[in-house]
Amino acid sequence: MAHVDIVLNDARSFLSEQPEKLQEKVNQIHEMIHNKTGLGNDFLGWLDLPSNYDKDEFNRVLQAAERIRETSEVLVVIGIGGSYLGAKAGLEFLKVPFEEKTLEIVFAGHHMSGSYLKHLTSYLKDKSFSINVISKSGTTTEPAIAFRVLKDLLIAKVGEKEAKTRIYATTDKQRGALYTLSKAEGYEMFVIPDDVGGRFSVLTPVGLLPLAADGLDVKAMLKGAKDAEDRFSNPNLEENEAYLYAATRYLLYKQGYKIEMLVGYEPNLLFLNEWWKQLYGESEGKDHKGLFVASAGFSTDLHSLGQYIQDGERHLFETVIQVESTDQDTIIPETKDDLDQLNYLAGKTLSYVNKQALKGTMMAHKDGLVPNMLLSIPSFDSYTFGYLVYFFEKACAMSAYLIDVNPFNQPGVEAYKKNMFALLGKKGYENILK
Ligand code: PA5
Repeated sequence: MAHVDIVLNDARSFLSEQPEKLQEKVNQIHEMIHNKTGLGNDFLGWLDLPSNYDKDEFNRVLQAAERIRETSEVLVVIGIGGSYLGAKAGLEFLKVPFEEKTLEIVFAGHHMSGSYLKHLTSYLKDKSFSINVISKSGTTTEPAIAFRVLKDLLIAKVGEKEAKTRIYATTDKQRGALYTLSKAEGYEMFVIPDDVGGRFSVLTPVGLLPLAADGLDVKAMLKGAKDAEDRFSNPNLEENEAYLYAATRYLLYKQGYKIEMLVGYEPNLLFLNEWWKQLYGESEGKDHKGLFVASAGFSTDLHSLGQYIQDGERHLFETVIQVESTDQDTIIPETKDDLDQLNYLAGKTLSYVNKQALKGTMMAHKDGLVPNMLLSIPSFDSYTFGYLVYFFEKACAMSAYLIDVNPFNQPGVEAYKKNMFALLGKKGYENILK
């Protein structure tokens, strides 16, 4: 049975060709993915990661997480892009709002704000903290700067010897500046496999260490991903929801819907959106092709983007994530005077109201000529997070191959870096701006 369900009702009527018609093409691409014969085929390690991960390293991840929890009030996770968004998405997805935690997890190196880093160092001055620095290349500027600053702070606080025991490096198994530095300093190291690219690395130590440090059930996450791996190893569009999603968004794109919005009705989904945008944006947006990926949190954004979605230029479609049940709910109370005129909702739960908002919005957007797909997930739990990660990864590979681009490279990301390095006077970039 599908753990993530997909409902296409409000998209099908917009399609001149139904996704099932693409079965043969999907079969071919499926073979290409599994036989590793397509573009970027040396980056398909994520495909069987849930059943084929390094069990010894996984145990080390659990032990390190335990140690971090015992020794620290704060864990600083340093990384950017795929070395940041997966863990952040998981932490937010599984977060209990306002819960006080014994270990606080904060992020750094995911932008270049000097103010943020300065405030973070002040905040950490009186706290015991550990660092998990994550970079596959080991040379990315943002995390490298943050690590240099925070490592100095940690050494100043606890001394060089103790600092070495509180720094955990997740990087390539034999290359890069972070690898060399970590080896030289003797930090505990975790490996990002060669054949797993940054944005596909959530289920490696990149995501697993911060998530385990938070006390989350990473075993259940891997189990969810494993069940998704099994389910999506069958290319049949009637049973493979990931491919059905990929085929539908491809057909909408071909018909001129150039923007996909991922929409959630729970705040816990906001960073899943961010992770998803990176996964799809970096995987598909190349050779002047690809859907532009955007996101929204409803009903909040119905009060900002709602007008445009209903009535603006008709070039977008929505993929809506519905969460079947949440751990807690709020019952709307009755009042004697009903001055706020809400008694018609008295006794109803807020989840019920939220679901009617979702239904009503989907109907309105369909009437406004915005195709909708619905992805339904049972709840915010670790198993579902792992399943969903794999669902989107598999669909992403299929989507990129459908438009004939390499899902696993990101050549466009280098352009700004060259200019920035030239402007900063980095050696070797002197002629770039001439
Ligand atoms: O998906 C990707 O490959 C990128 O988004 C990277 O994750 C990001 O650029 C960070 O790279 P690195 O882990 O090498 O520091």
